Amino acid sequence: MEKTRILVTGGTGYIGSHTVVELQNAGYEVIIIDNLSNSNINVLDGIEAITGKRPVFVEGDVCNIDTLKSIFEQYPGIKGIINFAASKAVGESIEKPSLYYRNNLVSLLNLLDLMPVYGVKGIVFSSSCTVYGEPDVNPVTEQTPIKSATSPYGNTKQISEEIITDVIKSGAPVKSVILRYFNPVGAHPSALIGELPNGVPQNLVPYLTQTAIGIREVLSVFGDDYDTPDGSCIRDFINVVDLAKAHVIAMDRMLTDRSEDSVEIFNLGTGNGVSVLELIQSFERSTGVKVNYKISPRRPGDIVKVWADPSHANNVLGWKAQETLDDTMLSAWKWQLQLRERGL
Ligand code: UD1
Repeated sequence: MEKTRILVTGGTGYIGSHTVVELQNAGYEVIIIDNLSNSNINVLDGIEAITGKRPVFVEGDVCNIDTLKSIFEQYPGIKGIINFAASKAVGESIEKPSLYYRNNLVSLLNLLDLMPVYGVKGIVFSSSCTVYGEPDVNPVTEQTPIKSATSPYGNTKQISEEIITDVIKSGAPVKSVILRYFNPVGAHPSALIGELPNGVPQNLVPYLTQTAIGIREVLSVFGDDYDTPDGSCIRDFINVVDLAKAHVIAMDRMLTDRSEDSVEIFNLGTGNGVSVLELIQSFERSTGVKVNYKISPRRPGDIVKVWADPSHANNVLGWKAQETLDDTMLSAWKWQLQLRERGL
């Protein structure tokens, strides 16, 4: 039987690469477009080593509509899109807002415009729990009110959700599943793919593993005087492979017309709030490696606590986070060790 073709934008990135693996394992044929602005072409080797198949790769920018048209023409019959291609650094977005609005919104508009032209049925969109801002109540459901965004990055996620909803409401013959990720962490258990931060990591787990291996001297814990049990911030850390699997389910659902609405929104988290200090303890417990950390001042703009109520995804998608936090931390560590082998 012919395999269903899926276009994965940003498919060599962190979440994208893990999703390509799960799509290929599920029998989909994947075409990746990525401009390699925050990823490396060698990721394709990792995907091939895990799945036994090298995805088609096009180096290009989703903001370039002609590049997209040529992909749809060269690879006819693409039925679904998963759109990971976006800029995601909160701090950088405050310094370069127009770059963020252009990269994240023009790319989405291009895809939505071309989908009906080329008969693409559905798009899975990567959103974020950032849309909830600092919630009044935890855990957050999909009905928790959206708060006004505190960064251009966060705003692009809110606006993207509105663009998708408005375009589909206007009658465009496409469907969408919007996935609101909590904090994706860890790596594939094979340690053949993982997160590859550019320069000094801004996110907690890559900074932690780089400190543990000696690339960074000390991990700063940003604040221990918050209104939480141990004073550090609380997040919902979700294993990246678990997260990737949800995309395959979402795609199956759209392509087999099981969606209840043309636009569906799901939180993807574990349902457990874990503090920054607890995460460090989990890393130390699972790896046996001590982390050199110090308490530092609060980081401006940080959310104090947010974690998911994932019951909508659990019940409707039949998806549930499986991996333990300890195993996830171990996978992040194995990946960091693997990077050292490669001299990175
Ligand atoms: C942020 C964004 C999120 C985005 C994600 C990916 C907000 C509110 N959140 O998540 O939307 O998808 O980045 O880039 O905009 N921490 C330390 N030391 C460090 C690094 C982090 O203590 O060196 C702490 C932070 O203060 C925070 C927690 O770890 O409490 C998680 O931080 P991080 O990994 O940067 O993710 P978020 O800020 O939750």
